[in-house]
Amino acid sequence: MEIVKDIVERAGGGVAATPAPGGANMIDPFGRAITYLRISVTDRCDFRCVYCMAEDMTFLPKRDLLTLEELDRLSTAFIDKGVRKLRLTGGEPLVRRNIMHLIRSLSRHLETGALEELTITTNGSQLERFASELADCGVKRINVSLDTLDPDKFKAITRWGDFAKVMAGIKAAQAAGIRVKLNAVALKGFNDDEIPAMLEWAHGEGMDLTLIETMPLGEIDGDRTDQYLPLSAVRARLSERFTLTDIPYKTGGPARYVEVAETGGRLGFITPLTHNFCESCNRVRLTCTGTLYMCLGQEDAADLRGPLRASEGNELLSNAIDEAIGRKPKGHDFIIDRETRRPAVSRHMSVTGG
Ligand code: 5AD
Ligand code: SF4
Repeated sequence: MEIVKDIVERAGGGVAATPAPGGANMIDPFGRAITYLRISVTDRCDFRCVYCMAEDMTFLPKRDLLTLEELDRLSTAFIDKGVRKLRLTGGEPLVRRNIMHLIRSLSRHLETGALEELTITTNGSQLERFASELADCGVKRINVSLDTLDPDKFKAITRWGDFAKVMAGIKAAQAAGIRVKLNAVALKGFNDDEIPAMLEWAHGEGMDLTLIETMPLGEIDGDRTDQYLPLSAVRARLSERFTLTDIPYKTGGPARYVEVAETGGRLGFITPLTHNFCESCNRVRLTCTGTLYMCLGQEDAADLRGPLRASEGNELLSNAIDEAIGRKPKGHDFIIDRETRRPAVSRHMSVTGG
């Protein structure tokens, strides 16, 4: 699910994290301070969204995954090096066994102030059961993916999802005091007509909504060029019904954010294919096997599992992180190739967690 997942929450009005004190900052070759780590804690998911996964997915063997203890150690190493914001994604992060152990453990960094924000991006399926515990661990806002308000269409797009469960999850999160932001992928012929209703509903319930253009990540069963719906067209249509006013985005992030006069809520547009959002990139992404991607749109990656496991101390790990940050590229290059109809980047979103 954030570039999207990721681009998405930048759209969500993320405030730029304050650099760490004591010169512990990771600065990339383009002068960008890396203060944000996204970790995909599992490549598995209990949904099979058609734009994200094939129905028949082969997942990583469990033995290849970092243990929860290793994920904790890695996260802590990054926090020591200046990461102030941590987001757990997947796959679906809440389907990883004992994930709350990790979240509970990471929450110690919130208590010390080393970490400013601990958050997740989720499909909402397990939220009902975890919401109050998440709140108790200091999770203040979450992103929930929801592409339609129609239970039948929800089933069609997620293949395996249960709409009522997700709704109950969203309610539970709100009841626990967690702010929910909705992410909806705009899909031609699927939810274009529903967007105004989703907007009114989300804003009525106190949730921001972010619309996402489909991104060419990973092989799926269908043809992506058929699903592609430019958000410029969505915005033009919405403007016929709503008064949309651009609001300046603090961090100069990737999404354009508008205020909707009629609802009083905020609407984000994430257009990864048509807009460049790389200049202000402050993030890196870690997979559940310990591979660090310095850019979502590039194949280059660094293995951190090796150095993590090679010694008990963190020196090798810390050096490997520095070396990787030193290779962070300037920007991405997403293309859906019209000849081969293949994505420019072959790994699935669920691998890097957007
Ligand atoms: N294109 C656009 N959005 C995607 N997501 C997952 N895969 C893709 C894709 N290929 C979405 C999820 C979630 C968000 C974080 O990313 O639905 O809302
Ligand atoms: Fe799962 Fe999210 Fe992918 Fe849907 S988009 S299959 S919920 S990881």
